[in-house]
Amino acid sequence: MNRNYDHALQQIEGVVSGETDLIANLSNIAAILKELEGYFWVGFYLVKEGELVVGPFQGPVACSRIAKGKGVCGTAWSENKTILVQNVHDFPGHVACSPHSQSEIVVPILNKEGDVTMVLDVDSSSVGDFGENDQLALEKLAKIITNLIPLK
Ligand code: SME
Repeated sequence: MNRNYDHALQQIEGVVSGETDLIANLSNIAAILKELEGYFWVGFYLVKEGELVVGPFQGPVACSRIAKGKGVCGTAWSENKTILVQNVHDFPGHVACSPHSQSEIVVPILNKEGDVTMVLDVDSSSVGDFGENDQLALEKLAKIITNLIPLK
């Protein structure tokens, strides 16, 4: 699907500009993306004590924890790079939180020190739903989020 992210990114910039609480901002970002981009599932997995723990999200119930290097999320974290999966059944070790998820994109999000502190996971119920357009927009969003993460 060819999505236009201009409106979502504009709305996100507006919502986060007056708020310093990270969880409040991540919650509203997930809500804006779900509403405007029609994803099946969108949310954040936060790095906590060596594993990923589900954070603010919109969509069906999700797996609570994912180990480093496991599934698409754990791999995006350990390799510190965006992973775009056209068909989740072709990704070895894919963590199936929902049988309806068919394609997904996961973008690591760094703090200002350059460490991955969370990943943004977006799932679709159609095969091959994500492309370069989604990747570029979500990586742009990842940089916006970096600026929202307080220094340690
Ligand atoms: N499919 C992901 C797990 C998270 S859910 O899709 C919400 C993975 O393989 O990491």
